[in-house]
Amino acid sequence: MMYGFNDHLLGKFTVAVAACLLLASPVTQIRADEPAGKTELHFRGMMQELDRNMQKITAAISREDWALVAQIAPRIARHPELPLAEKMQILAYLGTNASEFHHIDAQTHEAASDLEQVAEFGDGKAVIQAFARVQENCLACHQNFRKPFVEHFHGAH
Ligand code: HEC
Repeated sequence: MMYGFNDHLLGKFTVAVAACLLLASPVTQIRADEPAGKTELHFRGMMQELDRNMQKITAAISREDWALVAQIAPRIARHPELPLAEKMQILAYLGTNASEFHHIDAQTHEAASDLEQVAEFGDGKAVIQAFARVQENCLACHQNFRKPFVEHFHGAH
């Protein structure tokens, strides 16, 4: 019980330190291309990185370079996480839709992990199927969430 109390305090302290570090990061330099006055998110940059990696995988599939597919797939399956403060901001925005958003996100990660595995086996047909599953999940989230998300965080345009 005594340790539980201390762990709790330590947890709170860690979160507070992490939040301070994140708030101190030079976000404006990272997203200098965004119009002034709009909310600046790492989320869009993360999406652009996913997009680049999907394109690299398409090129690798055309060359039947399964080793390269296996090398790139983890960058989708285990892409860098968003800063904690931004995660909390997005969670707050999503509200009761957060679980659906998370679900599609998890499915995308799972499909990308499968993609990595079948590429390691050099199974071309399975690679294409797993890749299609990744794309279906990208699409599912975009169809459900993108428009209102963009309107909320970037203003309607
Ligand atoms: C769980 C939800 C979700 C998943 C899964 C998801 N996206 Fe997105 N994506 C979004 C949202 C929301 C936006 C709008 C973000 C914004 O404009 O700030 C977006 C925007 C984008 C954009 C546009 C970025 C820009 O510059 O305007 C690209 C490209 C993109 N996603 C690629 C992908 C790819 C590729 C995948 C699958 C590997 C994927 N996304 C999976 C939610 C998701």
